[in-house]
Amino acid sequence: MKRIDQILFHPKYQYALAQIKTWEQDRQFCRHDIGHFLDVARLAYIHCLERGLDVKKDVIYAAALLHDIGRYRQYEAGIPHEEASVHLADGILPACSFSEEEQAQIRDAILGHRRNEDRRTESLADLLYRADKMSRNCFDCAAREMCNWPEDKMNMVIRDHWGEGR
Ligand SMILES: [Fe+2]
Ligand SMILES: [Fe+2]
Repeated sequence: MKRIDQILFHPKYQYALAQIKTWEQDRQFCRHDIGHFLDVARLAYIHCLERGLDVKKDVIYAAALLHDIGRYRQYEAGIPHEEASVHLADGILPACSFSEEEQAQIRDAILGHRRNEDRRTESLADLLYRADKMSRNCFDCAAREMCNWPEDKMNMVIRDHWGEGR
């Protein structure tokens, strides 16, 4: 996927990935690394296919790769990471051949990914939200007791997307 490779190898993206890795090296809770971003991308794309939605694959991957990329700004300056991620995305996406409309769609999905609201629509934002939540393996997490996720939101079994948002 050419446009996704352009994001992945963009110097600002690589810098942010390295910063997050440094900040999170001793983190006990879920990390925000390329493994997480790809889990979210693949889950969201599977959901898209299973639901027969008309969202482009690389637009889904772009939103997933970028949704937490501003996390290090939250660590270093207290900026909510969805806002920092959008800011970084604005500096990366125009160089990666995404149209204005696609950029707006990706920006909206990133900004909304922490909002706890009705998530039953089939927009890119909701695909991203559900995949992000579903990507975490709470049932196998050593830090679960200390986690601030509400217990009823934790993934204590392996879910598929038909189990929620219906
Ligand atoms: Fe996030
Ligand atoms: Fe995330």
